Amino acid sequence: MEMAKYRTMMTLLFSIGIFSQVCDSDVKCRDDSGNEVDWLVFISVSLGIFLYKLPKGDDEGLSYLYMDEGTRGWELSKKTINSKSGTLANTLKPLLDFYDRKIEGFGYMLYNDQPPDPYVAPASFGHSKGVVMLDRQTGVWLSHSTPKFPTYRSKDIWPKSGSINAQTFMCVTFSYDKFKEIGLQLMYIHVYSYDSDIPKTFHNELRCVAQRSCYPKIEPWFRVTMLTSMKGRGFSSFAKYTRFRDDLYSGLIGNYLKQNLYVKSWGKMHDPLPSNCSIPYYVYNVKEVRLEGKPISDTVDHSKWCVTPVGGWTCIADLNREVSQMKRGGGAICTKDFAVAKVFSVIITRYELC
Ligand SMILES: *[C@@H]1O[C@H](CO)[C@@H](O)[C@H](O)[C@H]1NC(C)=O
Repeated sequence: MEMAKYRTMMTLLFSIGIFSQVCDSDVKCRDDSGNEVDWLVFISVSLGIFLYKLPKGDDEGLSYLYMDEGTRGWELSKKTINSKSGTLANTLKPLLDFYDRKIEGFGYMLYNDQPPDPYVAPASFGHSKGVVMLDRQTGVWLSHSTPKFPTYRSKDIWPKSGSINAQTFMCVTFSYDKFKEIGLQLMYIHVYSYDSDIPKTFHNELRCVAQRSCYPKIEPWFRVTMLTSMKGRGFSSFAKYTRFRDDLYSGLIGNYLKQNLYVKSWGKMHDPLPSNCSIPYYVYNVKEVRLEGKPISDTVDHSKWCVTPVGGWTCIADLNREVSQMKRGGGAICTKDFAVAKVFSVIITRYELC
């Protein structure tokens, strides 16, 4: 090859290389095969519910029923939740890589009202659990219900004390600019951030939450906003601050969605709020769901979600319907999709009448 041609070609290859490095963000929600997805939801369930005999040493693993924009229904994953190649590990890979080697232009925040030891979250912080991870192009907001997850700076992200109760997870991929708004929602929830590294040039709304240095100062003590995902799906984010002093479902979400709500929350509580039919839109407590043909009572189901079977809304949420949690910050991420709402509605087998 002539020298000039060779040079042109090398320049071209080089610039393509740099170009794709800049535009190809890794920070996206990912499925079990590592493919990018716009959004995903899964419910983790104790393996013992589906299998009678557990493989030795595998009893800490939870199986999960997975759904994303392409599955249109639950799929029982072939992996366990602590797998190094499942949806959780694939999605959190940029964070685990960052533990090895700091990459410029990457930021993250881990928050949990039940953080891993030795951290302890005061009750003035929100009852909320999640991961925010982003670079200059895209990021993910992963909202979940698992205590002590993710572990503190360890590649074994699943806590050893791994809860045997069912849990919910929702991940949505957003463009970088949406994290200003996400930061504000997290400020209202007043999340307890136990680990973070957010570059100084990133949104201040997110940085101050990561540093636990901001909180809402004026009424109203709640915030509702619309967030559009990378692929253009609308998500309504509900957030209430501790001073809101009402139940998330009967006091906020129902009024906005203008639909009766069926709420799945933790069934082992001190002072549970009963189903409520003294408000324009009724709120019912779901007592049992059926997954893969197996009944799961709310006493072993720590997942938190609600659905409006008629209106087509589904929310993955932070809070239980309990008197003491009226005083806690917390929120929910909701989307309107009749197919998704149906998938959640049909698993409800028992709920508390008013
Ligand atoms: C029903 O919900 C509303 C709004 O949260 C609350 O003010 C009211 O006390 C509740 N009623 C009952 C019977 O729980």
